[in-house]
Amino acid sequence: MSDAAPSRTRGPIETLLDEVWREVSANDEGTIATYIPELAKADPATCGISLATLDGQVYDAGVLVPFTIQSVSKPYVYALALADRGQEAVLEKVGVEPTGDPFNSISLDDRSSRAFNPMVNAGAIVTSTLVSGQTRAEQFERIHSGLSAFAGHELAIDEDVFHSERTTGDRNRAIAYLMRSAGLLDEDVDEQVEGYFRQCAVLVTARDLAVMAATLANSGINPVTGEQVVPRDVVASVLTVMATCGMYDYAGEWLYRVGIPAKSGVSGGVSAALPGQLGLGLHSPLLDSNGNSVRGVVAAELLSKRLGMHLL
Ligand code: DON
Repeated sequence: MSDAAPSRTRGPIETLLDEVWREVSANDEGTIATYIPELAKADPATCGISLATLDGQVYDAGVLVPFTIQSVSKPYVYALALADRGQEAVLEKVGVEPTGDPFNSISLDDRSSRAFNPMVNAGAIVTSTLVSGQTRAEQFERIHSGLSAFAGHELAIDEDVFHSERTTGDRNRAIAYLMRSAGLLDEDVDEQVEGYFRQCAVLVTARDLAVMAATLANSGINPVTGEQVVPRDVVASVLTVMATCGMYDYAGEWLYRVGIPAKSGVSGGVSAALPGQLGLGLHSPLLDSNGNSVRGVVAAELLSKRLGMHLL
C-alpha cells in the first residue's frame, strides 16, 4: 500500500488489493531486465497493483511509478491495426499461432510467409507499420494517440529508454530485415524498427494498464472517459492472441492458473482483461525466467482466486 495512504477509509476492493500487495511485496525473487541498459535503473522494490471496473472506478495499491510499456503495447497496437486495416489485411502479414519460441526469436512462419503472431517481436514490428498514417511520423502519432486513448490521458515517452533500445536493438533490426525479405515490411526498415522502439518507450503506470485492459473488457469503450477507442468487433481477436500468446512461454500455465487474457513486458508490467468485468494492471520489475513480473504473476493468481476471475 502506498506510503501516501489516502485519508479516507479504504473499501473492500482496496483492502483486498492492499493484502495482495503486502503478500507479494515480501517476495524478492527475480531479476531486472538489463539488455536495454536504461531498464536496469528500475527500483526492484517497486510494486503497484490496480483494478479498473467497467463503471469507471479504479482502485490502486502500492506505488504507481511510471515505467515504459514495452511489450504490453503489443495487443493495443494490434487492436489499432485491426481497427485501421481490417482483420483480413492484418492476417495476411501476421498470423495467430503461438510459437513456443522466445519473444525475440528471429523467426518467420515459412509455411505462410507471415510473422507467427502479433505478441512476438517479429509480429509486433510488422503490426506497428499497419496502423493508419501517410508517413512513419503519422503512424507513430496514431500509435501514441491510440495508446493514450486506451489509458484515458496523454501518455509521455521516455526518450532515454528509447535511445537505449535504439543503441542496443540490433536483434530487432535482424528480425525486421527478415520480415522485409518476406515482403512484410517496406524499404525503410530502420525507420520502421524505430517506430516500434518508440512505441515500447511510452510511459505508463499500473493504473494505466488497468484502464487499458478495462477498455478491452468493455468492448473497446474506455470506462473512465467513455470514448470508443476501437470498434467492438476487434476486441475478441485481440483478447484471443493475449490468451494464447500474451505471457511468453508461460501463456498456458497463466491461462490455467489465472484464467484471463493478459500481456506482459520486460519492464515488469502486466495488463489483464476479464471481459465484461474488469481490467487489472500490475507492475513490478523483477522478472522470472519466463520474462514475466514475479510479483505480477503471483498477485494476479491471488486476485483471480479471491475474486473468482477464471473464465473457464
Ligand atoms: O523488443 C524488445 O525487446 C522490447 N522493446 C520489448 C520486449 C518485451 O517487453 C517482450 N515481450 N514480449
